[in-house]
Amino acid sequence: MNEPGLANKVIIITGASRGIGAAIAHACANAGAKVVLASRKQEDLDATAATFAPGQALALACHTGKPQEVDALFARAVEHFGRVDGLVSNAATNPYFGPLVDTPDAAMEKTFEVNVRGYLYGARAMVKHARARGGAASIVNVASVAGLRAAPMQGFYGMTKAAVISMTQTLATELGSSGIRVNAICPGLVETKFASTLINTPTLRDYVVKRSPLGRHAQPEEIAGAAVYLLSEASSFTTGTSLVVDGGFTIG
Ligand SMILES: NC(=O)c1ccc[n+]([C@@H]2O[C@H](COP(=O)([O-])OP(=O)(O)OC[C@H]3O[C@@H](n4cnc5c(N)ncnc54)[C@H](OP(=O)(O)O)[C@@H]3O)[C@@H](O)[C@H]2O)c1
Repeated sequence: MNEPGLANKVIIITGASRGIGAAIAHACANAGAKVVLASRKQEDLDATAATFAPGQALALACHTGKPQEVDALFARAVEHFGRVDGLVSNAATNPYFGPLVDTPDAAMEKTFEVNVRGYLYGARAMVKHARARGGAASIVNVASVAGLRAAPMQGFYGMTKAAVISMTQTLATELGSSGIRVNAICPGLVETKFASTLINTPTLRDYVVKRSPLGRHAQPEEIAGAAVYLLSEASSFTTGTSLVVDGGFTIG
C-alpha cells in the first residue's frame, strides 16, 4: 500500500473554522500535514487555529465565492508554507429551506455562488499552482448525499451538490494526465451548525436515521478519514469518484 499519511504535505481546507472542515483539518494535521484553514470570519479561524500545534495551521479569511479572495488565499498559503499539495473544498451554504419551486432568486444566487462557483474557483487556483510547480495535487470536494437523491425542502442545495459531483468527474477526466486527482465525498447527516435544523426537528432527523442501517447520524470526525485517504498516496489510483459516507442511508 502507498503512504496513507500526509507528511510534508500542505493542504488548504475551506470552511475549516468549524464542523466537518475543522475535523478534516485536524485529521490532516494528525496525518502529518501543514494545514491552511479558510472561511470568512478571521476571529473564528484564529480560535480554531489555536487548537493545533504551534506552526501547524495557518488561518486565512476567504470568501470562497469571490475569485480574487480564492487566488489571494493560495498566494498567501504558498508565501507561508512554500507550496500547496491538496485542496479540500468544503465551504458551502444553504440559506433556504422549503419547496424547490418557491426558492427565492437571491437564495439561488447565493447557493450557486458558494457551492458551485466557489468549488470551481478553488480547483482553478489549485491547478494553476500545481502546474506552476510542475507537480501532482489532490482535490477533494465535499458534496452530499443530497446530490445523489431527491432533496425535499433542500432542492436547490441538492442541485448544487449534484453539480459538484459532475464537476468532480469532469475535472478528474481533464486533469488525470497532469497527475491531479479530483474526488468527492458525499456525507450523510452530520451533527454541525449547518445541519442543526434537520437534527433538531425529530420528524426530519428520524426520516434519515430510520433509513440508515447504522441507525444514527454522524459526528464530523467520522467524515475526516475519507478526506485524508483521498488526499494521500493511499488513493493513488482513485480519481473522479464520489465516496459516500452516510451510515448506509442511500442504500436504505
Ligand atoms: N452537516 C451535514 O449534515 C452535511 C451533510 C452533507 C454534506 N455536508 C457538507 O459538508 C460541508 C461542511 O458543512 P458543515 O456541516 O461542517 O457546516 P458548518 O459547521 O456550518 O461549517 C461551514 C463552514 O463553512 C464556512 N463558510 C460558509 N460560507 C462560506 C463562504 N462563502 N466562504 C468561506 N467559508 C464559508 C463557515 O465559516 P464562516 O461562516 O465564518 O464563513 C464554516 O467554517 C458543506 O459542504 C456541506 O454541504 C454537510
